[in-house]
Amino acid sequence: MASGVTVAVVGATGAAGQTTLRILEERKFPVRELRAFASERSVGKTVTFRGEAIRIQKIEAAAFKGVDIAFCSAGSAQSKEYAPLIRKAGATVVDKSNAFRMDPTVPLVVPEINPHAARRHQGILACPNCTTIVTVMPLKPLHDAGRLRRVIATSYQAVSGAGVNGIAELREQTLAWARGEAREPRHFLHRIAFNLIPAIDRFGPDGYTGEEMKLVNETRKILEAPDILISPTTVRVPVFTCHSIAVTAETEEKITPARARDLFARFPGLRLWDDPAQNRYPMPVEVEGQDDCFVGRIREDLSSPTGLNFWVVGDQLRKGAATNAVQIAELLLG
Ligand code: A2P
Repeated sequence: MASGVTVAVVGATGAAGQTTLRILEERKFPVRELRAFASERSVGKTVTFRGEAIRIQKIEAAAFKGVDIAFCSAGSAQSKEYAPLIRKAGATVVDKSNAFRMDPTVPLVVPEINPHAARRHQGILACPNCTTIVTVMPLKPLHDAGRLRRVIATSYQAVSGAGVNGIAELREQTLAWARGEAREPRHFLHRIAFNLIPAIDRFGPDGYTGEEMKLVNETRKILEAPDILISPTTVRVPVFTCHSIAVTAETEEKITPARARDLFARFPGLRLWDDPAQNRYPMPVEVEGQDDCFVGRIREDLSSPTGLNFWVVGDQLRKGAATNAVQIAELLLG
């Protein structure tokens, strides 16, 4: 593999697929040949990689012959349909959808946290949900230091988490509002401009959404800690990029804010922006475009002697999706 690998990006025209192309370039991933795939609607269109126009191909077994690593971000139904075909052609699949995350034979990997899990792969590796990744990054050092017992997490999720249509809808509704016009929601269930929608996807019978249960189940799988109690609320907000999460973490052993600051500052992929006197805390507009997750507002939980409150922000198209996926592929090469 020293001379480079052949890489496929499935969903290359989408928000996560486009970011994947950019991250492969930025991290100088050793791509010998890049093949791009999307829906049949896009066949023949081009995407740009290293300044070169790459034609979108139709998804069929023959097109994956010779591919070493395939990044899939075309949605869960598409991953379920295409991953077996891509596997059969001999490629290893790094999947960014929900299709395989909880499959016990599929590693669910955040490279800073559980790189060892990647070694057990059988041809498919899953990249966690974007909110899960941003939340679990600061949870890991706390868990190692004091054993997590209970987590309450409330997310503020950007529209680009819903793909290119989510971005377009916020932009159109905002521009229409400025002209004094109304726009009916098309992609989201309700208006998103100047609004908050406390439901990312469908509700289960217990009143929790699928997104909320991903945060619960995936966090436990990544931390290999099935007993952590997790109470999630996920909210779509009128922000283009970056997911922010307000977290209360209760540990068996008390972790003071000073200790937590030290733990966060040392953990790879985490950065500390926590200076209340200077009004310094992470915000989406400052974190957008960065690969690290940023933590601030670190303080004791007033309601629990072993609880800690903090605020974490991550670019969910980068660390929450594409960067994490490319890091997984780097583990495969390494
Ligand atoms: P297309 O642009 O042709 O619709 P996003 O998450 O930003 O909405 O992007 C979704 C990505 O998944 C796009 O690249 C989209 O391609 C692709 N996609 C959607 N449906 C399919 C499908 N049935 N087969 C392959 N790719 C698909």
